[in-house]
Amino acid sequence: MLLHKIDEVREKVREWKKQGLTVGLVPTMGALHKGHLSLIKKSVEKCDKTVISVFVNPIQFCPGEDYEKYPRTLDADTKLAEEAGVDIVFAPSAEEMYGKGGILSNDFLTYVIPPYFYTDKLCGKSRVGHFDGVCTVVNKLFNIVQPDYAFFGEKDRQQLIIIKKMVKDLNIPLTIISCPIVREDDGLAMSSRNKYLSEDQRKEALVLKNILFNIKSCYNSGIKDIKALTETAYEFLKPCHELEYLEFRDRDNLEAKTEADKNTVVFIAVKIGSVRLIDNVSLES
Ligand code: PAJ
Repeated sequence: MLLHKIDEVREKVREWKKQGLTVGLVPTMGALHKGHLSLIKKSVEKCDKTVISVFVNPIQFCPGEDYEKYPRTLDADTKLAEEAGVDIVFAPSAEEMYGKGGILSNDFLTYVIPPYFYTDKLCGKSRVGHFDGVCTVVNKLFNIVQPDYAFFGEKDRQQLIIIKKMVKDLNIPLTIISCPIVREDDGLAMSSRNKYLSEDQRKEALVLKNILFNIKSCYNSGIKDIKALTETAYEFLKPCHELEYLEFRDRDNLEAKTEADKNTVVFIAVKIGSVRLIDNVSLES
């Protein structure tokens, strides 16, 4: 069922709750792919009812980013979601979420601002304000749907860590379920933004997973020194790869690691042409 209005979703969820059913929420910006579908599958398995939101959230895009051109494929998304067992596809307008004037009334919006320590690094460094926009919309979605479980992908691991922190700090009564990264057959992490890649850039995009998997195998062979592990990346980099960051951080609180260990996540962002791609790998197991 495709719903556009907050009140309609609320009413439906209220009915379910009266029947004692559990509710899962999968927040998305649409252009669904197998990564999103893995979250949906987990929710459908775990919960009696599943709601997904499809909303390209204007307040998490920075000036000059791809808000306007972000792929919008609601008909196909609704079909895919329903085939996967989703009960409600919630696709609000910007006005429905942020009031008349939509994003123009941005200045008058109450924001949820995660701690600077979590947002001043990795993607937050180049995308200033991005995680404020993410936390604000996710908090709104939590309040609208009031799910028992909400599902997020490790693909956006900084986002996942920040949302877990928000849920803990604000005592939001739900459980976050994290879901592993789904990759294409050749290892590229699935992303709605992969659509922007030309054929050549698509090949070059493998540099992210090549660097990460190589670091992981060096770590497994006994190298724990971060400088040495970082240096292994350079053999993969070509002039067409603009490395934005390659960092070793704690899997729970994003603190910088002095030595790689099983609690370390390696984060990478690379720009290929104008397309910015991110990926990460945990050094556990
Ligand atoms: P979006 O990029 O559409 O991603 C929605 C969810 O799908 C996120 O939790 C993301 O981590 C997960 N996901 C995307 N690609 C994945 C992959 N290859 N493997 C596993 N999970 C994957 O993230 C957002 O939207 C937005 O910031 C949102 C949370 C909806 C707030 O607007």
